[in-house]
Amino acid sequence: MGDSSAKVELGGKASEYKILSGSVGPDVIDIRKLYGNTGAFTYDPGFTSTASCESKITFIDGDQGVLLHRGYPIDQLAEQSNFMELSYLLLNGELPSKAELEKFSGTITRHTMVHEQLAQFYRGFRRDAHPMAVMCGVVGALSAFYHDSTDIADPHQRLVASHRLIAKIPTIAAMAYKYSVGQPFVYPKNNLSYTGNFLNMTFSVPAEEYEIDPVVEAAMDKIFILHADHEQNASTSTVRLAGSSGANPFACIAAGIACLWGPAHGGANEAALNMLREIGHIDRIPEYIARAKNKDDPFRLMGFGHRVYKNYDPRAKVLGKAATEVLAKLGKNDPILDVARKLEEIALTDPYFVEKKLYPNVDFYSGVILSAIGFPTTMFTVLFALARTVGWVAQWNEMIADPEQKIGRPRQLYTGHTQRDYVPLTQR
Ligand code: ACO
Repeated sequence: MGDSSAKVELGGKASEYKILSGSVGPDVIDIRKLYGNTGAFTYDPGFTSTASCESKITFIDGDQGVLLHRGYPIDQLAEQSNFMELSYLLLNGELPSKAELEKFSGTITRHTMVHEQLAQFYRGFRRDAHPMAVMCGVVGALSAFYHDSTDIADPHQRLVASHRLIAKIPTIAAMAYKYSVGQPFVYPKNNLSYTGNFLNMTFSVPAEEYEIDPVVEAAMDKIFILHADHEQNASTSTVRLAGSSGANPFACIAAGIACLWGPAHGGANEAALNMLREIGHIDRIPEYIARAKNKDDPFRLMGFGHRVYKNYDPRAKVLGKAATEVLAKLGKNDPILDVARKLEEIALTDPYFVEKKLYPNVDFYSGVILSAIGFPTTMFTVLFALARTVGWVAQWNEMIADPEQKIGRPRQLYTGHTQRDYVPLTQR
């Protein structure tokens, strides 16, 4: 922008607003005094032009298709790091030393069990309940079990709550799965990795030994890395908004899970795989492309388009490659991968998608991998929630520690009735 201030002229009165520059990315106009100076609000439904906070965690350049966590590109993290190390990075700002990583992993491992009484919550749900409904309820209930880490004014309690959330979410997610298939819950095992332990809790049964396939473990860990954080998306903003009132962290993460569930957000991975299955064969792709372009048809190509990326989602790039590798290594030949590849090829050359800059997003290929691993589609968003918990926790901590933090309270453009007198029921 180059300028150091922006001028607003309203009702013949001029006022000036500072331009703030981040380390990278667009400048922002600091309009905090706008209402005081002019008596006017800004109107920005969907926050398309509004920075709601200052953050040092994640940076996205949607035009270039860049995603950085604490400065490190997502493709490097996905290829060279692991989910525990990334979690440390998101929470603490720097990559850990070997000793720091061991200590952190050890702490997380020792918090993976959940209170035995929590298991009773599951029995209150119908067996066919969507696991995301179970997740909203059970994670929200954590605050009723861990009173000793709900005082957000105490940094130690905040740390313990953060560790508990990251550690217990795989246990809670695996239990949601086990409940839905009518199998007994499996306790965590401390000798396994974070991701290996989750797979064991999900797929092992007491009747026989379960061996964790290293290919599956590596693919799952990569999926967790790719979903760990994505700056101020809808669910993260929900967590921050809930937390801004001083709500405890367990309640805030439950709010984030509820928001993530929607098909325009985390629920899209489930919707994307269902769509690929519905298309079923490459011959039917033109029909679905035509529907996606038809203004009178509400159908959208799920797993395509993004509020921020107007270029290829860098996470989809990593996952597209991983999908081919994982299916080959597992010896699975799922025709929906061919449908996905062809659909991508056609959409990327179709003028409608090119002009609107609609590219595959993270959800487009993740379902193909998750399905090959053996997860039902209803678990896809649960896995997203599991991975995103660390991002939510990091963002929540950053917000609580921010001296500029205030309760989040947007204003509105009111277009309802002006004041009128109440009419008693007998006169209506
Ligand atoms: N298929 C067909 N057309 C689309 C699609 C799509 N997937 N996405 C956007 N468009 C069109 C819209 O119809 C609109 O066209 P118009 O300008 O002629 O009215 C234009 O592209 C812009 O779309 P908006 O909905 O205004 O863009 P917005 O930024 O609000 O939406 C969103 C982004 C919600 C992700 C949208 O692209 C979508 O619904 N995609 C499918 C669902 C999906 O995959 N969600 C996952 C997002 S990633 C995540 O949460 C991890």
